[in-house]
Amino acid sequence: MQGLANADDIRHAVKAQYSQVRREPSAQYNFRVGREFAEALGYPADLLDALPASLSEAFTVVSNAALLAQLETGQTVVDLGSGGGLDLVILARKVGPEGRAIGIDFAPDVALIQKSGLDGVRVVSRGRNARTRARESQVSVIEAHRP
Ligand SMILES: C[S@@+](CC[C@H](N)C(=O)[O-])C[C@H]1O[C@@H](n2cnc3c(N)ncnc32)[C@H](O)[C@@H]1O
Repeated sequence: MQGLANADDIRHAVKAQYSQVRREPSAQYNFRVGREFAEALGYPADLLDALPASLSEAFTVVSNAALLAQLETGQTVVDLGSGGGLDLVILARKVGPEGRAIGIDFAPDVALIQKSGLDGVRVVSRGRNARTRARESQVSVIEAHRP
């Protein structure tokens, strides 16, 4: 009988899988990925058209909470497990230029791509024990995708 995976093995597998999604969004996965899935969850086509295609190509999620989130301009929102960045950008648009959208993800490839050119969005850390400069009291909303 095979032993149970330990926490480090699971963490390593999750990182590797989501990094691969970012690098190869059209490969085969045992979960849904991509724009068609985003539209099936209710992400409007015109919203997706207005954003870089790479965001919806690598979209993987279990809910459309970012879409439904009721945020006010100027708020600080943390997207914990921000992945390919579609939800992070949607949250950033909701809090506007006076707000802050902070994405945290431990999978290196997803974090690096987010750093590379999305206005108004910051990926603060990709480490396991990610720390942001925002104090807890300054964060209005946390959207968590991590288990
Ligand atoms: C379902 S994806 C989120 C996708 C994202 N909402 C989007 O718009 O594409 C979940 C993400 O959480 C990250 N994640 C899972 N556990 C984590 C943890 N403990 N710390 C940081 N990131 C984590 C994964 O690397 C993955 O990118």
